[in-house]
Amino acid sequence: MHSISYYQEVISNHFSSLTINQEPQNLYEPIKYILSLGGKRIRPVLTLMSAEIFNCNYEKALPAATAVEVFHNFSLIHDDIMDDAPLRRGNETVHEKWNINTGILSGDAMLILAYQYFEQYEPIIFRELAKLFSKTALEVCEGQQWDIDFETRDDVTIPEYIKMIEFKTAVLVAAAMKMGAIVADTSKENAELIYDFGLNLGIAFQLQDDYLDAFGDPETFGKQVGGDIIENKKTYLYLKAIEFATTETKEQLLHLFSIQPKENSDKINSVKDIFNLTGSSKATLEAIKEYTEKAFQTLEKMNIEDTKKGVLKAFGENLMGRKV
Ligand code: IPE
Ligand code: IPE
Ligand code: MG
Ligand code: MG
Ligand code: MG
Repeated sequence: MHSISYYQEVISNHFSSLTINQEPQNLYEPIKYILSLGGKRIRPVLTLMSAEIFNCNYEKALPAATAVEVFHNFSLIHDDIMDDAPLRRGNETVHEKWNINTGILSGDAMLILAYQYFEQYEPIIFRELAKLFSKTALEVCEGQQWDIDFETRDDVTIPEYIKMIEFKTAVLVAAAMKMGAIVADTSKENAELIYDFGLNLGIAFQLQDDYLDAFGDPETFGKQVGGDIIENKKTYLYLKAIEFATTETKEQLLHLFSIQPKENSDKINSVKDIFNLTGSSKATLEAIKEYTEKAFQTLEKMNIEDTKKGVLKAFGENLMGRKV
């Protein structure tokens, strides 16, 4: 087992050497663009780490790791269209730089490209990977639809929100890890446990994404700060604020989330004040910790060396401290 930074380096070099040079340019340029913007690449790193945890050389997991990251980047292109987001990784989003149609089609092509990376595996592993991938991709679509549906609902519950983020985000983190287990041909039990670890880590990860969307530093966050507030997203921050607020504050928040002002900064600041005053910011940070701890508990059930558990724990702790 190598260090986390070693796997990050492997993935970074691997993506730099990927060749996506085909015609027509207007289909492939946006793909190269979004992939060149990098990002944290946590999912492919987790795939490599998971393979090595189950005693398989990480190189064998590279095609699966690539598939997961290409799929993730596809989902970001379409997500930015759906969320009307101007910024991604500190740069213009694909639909802003080109247009919406280009974003749709380049995204579609990436989904197919992602699948093609599985063709490098022998039939039994290919089938397992493709099956998991199809299930996961459909769940991501379901999660994304709920996310959009919730924008115009005012009766979303916390369990509904958790289910939504489990589907739109956590299942892909979980699948990224299970793919490492599949490639390593480990036991079903290990594969399920690493999936559960990834699932809880993924829920913590999306809770924190929601937190940073409101409270991240605009200089370094790389996305439009306050984007979720502008779009009336029913995040944990919002739902807990509604739960904790006095009648008057609750009315104010409900009103703020029923309008689409031309100038958003007043709305964003008022909502952030409410998140802080009601204690929903604090509750969100606690929930992030809780789900990370839950992931760590799954690790305890796994029959692997303590040093390997330590690397996974360090990864989870790093995620909790992240600012982007
Ligand atoms: C953004 O994912 C979308 C979510 C599921 C929160 P990341 O935060 O992993 O984005 P990059 O790939 O590092 O840019
Ligand atoms: C994105 O959730 C989940 C997927 C891309 C499937 P968000 O909409 O919160 O992701 P960001 O904040 O735009 O990265
Ligand atoms: Mg988004
Ligand atoms: Mg979204
Ligand atoms: Mg977000």
